Amino acid sequence: MKTRRTPAQSESVVADLMMPHQANGLRTPSVFGGVIVSLVDRCAALSAMRHCSGQATTLSIDRVLFKEPIRVGELVEVRARVVHVGRTSMSILANVFAEHIASGGARRHTNECWLTFVHLDATGKPAPVPALELETDEDRRLHALAASRRAQALTERREA
Ligand SMILES: CC(C)(COP(=O)(O)OP(=O)(O)OC[C@H]1O[C@@H](n2cnc3c(N)ncnc32)[C@H](O)[C@@H]1OP(=O)(O)O)[C@@H](O)C(=O)NCCC(=O)NCCS
Repeated sequence: MKTRRTPAQSESVVADLMMPHQANGLRTPSVFGGVIVSLVDRCAALSAMRHCSGQATTLSIDRVLFKEPIRVGELVEVRARVVHVGRTSMSILANVFAEHIASGGARRHTNECWLTFVHLDATGKPAPVPALELETDEDRRLHALAASRRAQALTERREA
């Protein structure tokens, strides 16, 4: 296993065309939020597996912000990367973009989501992950944001 990886090396993409059965029951239907969360979880899992070159499980889906609705017929693209690591855990930021390609519509940033995954060894126990090598100012900005989210989560864990 490599000892260091950059956030860019774990970048993963999942894309899907939104179909009628994925809509909610609103008067003006949009795509059901659980469909988006499922795509985000899958994409983040790919990033986690890329970073640790092994299996990883979802520890938490910490925050999903739905900034605007996604419609049936739109292409949804999720992009995720590891932005912070602990000893065995990886913090991942996923961004979602929607685009109505059939009408040449603009690509919109619709969702942002923070997740934590844990690398598991062959016996299913948490295992150490490679260090994260920060290359850019954006890497360092996201790393600091994730570090403060993790500190807050660990405080809540201790107080629970
Ligand atoms: C993920 C799982 C293996 C962690 O088990 P655990 O007994 O908490 O293991 P550990 O205490 O060794 O913690 C593992 C890592 O998670 C972190 N962690 C655990 N609970 C946490 C919490 N509440 N908040 C933030 N981080 C937490 C730990 O800090 C550690 O990370 P670190 O090594 O980078 O510091 C276990 O909770 C699990 O199996 N959960 C179910 C996962 C699942 O079914 N997911 C959905 C399907 S993919």
